[in-house]
Amino acid sequence: MSPSMIALVVEEENKKYQRGVKHLCDNGLTKVPTKYIWPEPDRPIFTKPDKLIKPKQNLKLPIIDIAELLGPNRSHVLRTIAEACENYGFFQVVNHGMEGDVSRYMIEVCKRFFELPYEERSKYMTSDMSAPVRYGTSFNQSKDNIFCWRDFLKLSAHPLPDYFPYWPSSPSDFRSLAAIYAKETKEMFDLMVKAILESLEIDGEGDKAAEELKEGSQLVVVNCYPPCPQPELTLGMPPHSDYGFVTLLLQDDVEGLQIMYHDEWVTVDPIPGSFVVNVGDHLEIFSNGRYKSVLHRVLVNSTKPRISVASLHSFPLTSVVKPSPKLTDEHNPPQYMDTDFATFLQYISSREPK
Ligand code: OGA
Ligand code: NI
Repeated sequence: MSPSMIALVVEEENKKYQRGVKHLCDNGLTKVPTKYIWPEPDRPIFTKPDKLIKPKQNLKLPIIDIAELLGPNRSHVLRTIAEACENYGFFQVVNHGMEGDVSRYMIEVCKRFFELPYEERSKYMTSDMSAPVRYGTSFNQSKDNIFCWRDFLKLSAHPLPDYFPYWPSSPSDFRSLAAIYAKETKEMFDLMVKAILESLEIDGEGDKAAEELKEGSQLVVVNCYPPCPQPELTLGMPPHSDYGFVTLLLQDDVEGLQIMYHDEWVTVDPIPGSFVVNVGDHLEIFSNGRYKSVLHRVLVNSTKPRISVASLHSFPLTSVVKPSPKLTDEHNPPQYMDTDFATFLQYISSREPK
């Protein structure tokens, strides 16, 4: 083939991958295409030469019981939150008040969305980062050289009435179920963030931030990871940290999330019905580095499709994100620049995921 012919073939191939992994799998697949094969050091199981191969136990994240947080043991629970944010950047919440049906219906209707014909799903495909609904694949499909085994649907969700009319109208019950889910997740966030800010012990500064965050943005990201014929060669999501203040993650019962803990990747044990809560970049900045926005990634498997729903909560777009003055002094100078959120978003959309 001539070089120009090869270029043409590559372009055709790339177009195919832009349609996403669900589309790819629906057309039958026995091997992972080269586009999705990660270099060896980035693959799911990479053992450094000086380390023995030993199967890692799944990580049991600290568990926060919201019923206890709201009872007489609050100060004890706040200390557990502070330790979790310092040592893991992650914890799980149980007894959070969201009815099991709300989260189950959400996962289930999202599954049905991804089972729609490609033509229906692709109506929401756009490279416009500010679109209220965005369907896509990989991590950043216009920039990624190697693709991830993941399709996504991103929904702007707060304030809900501004965005709701743009959400997918098919399946016919999608909007109403996703709206209930988004609203209840936002309420859970407002409650969680109050506790997290209280755990920083910065008094009025925390209350001020909580008020601002109440009016902030919410992005609901539905992740779809179809079964993969060679999961050892690829990733569902590359190592990244979340840009917002706090993320609330709902997973189905299939494991896949890994977090960086003591320099190693460890799998988070999913607790049915719980939410995984993690510190985002904004909270790391706000806490002047005391709470850590920790790298995490997603593995896929060869048998079970996996759905997760991440709800990213941040300050309003007009806010300036900076370390809380209460957490800086001559011994602890600010570790981060003041940044307005819009500039910050521009920066993260231009950088590599790591
Ligand atoms: C994310 C994320 C983890 C998962 O959406 O930012 O990290 O388990 N998701 O899907
Ligand atoms: Ni994430």
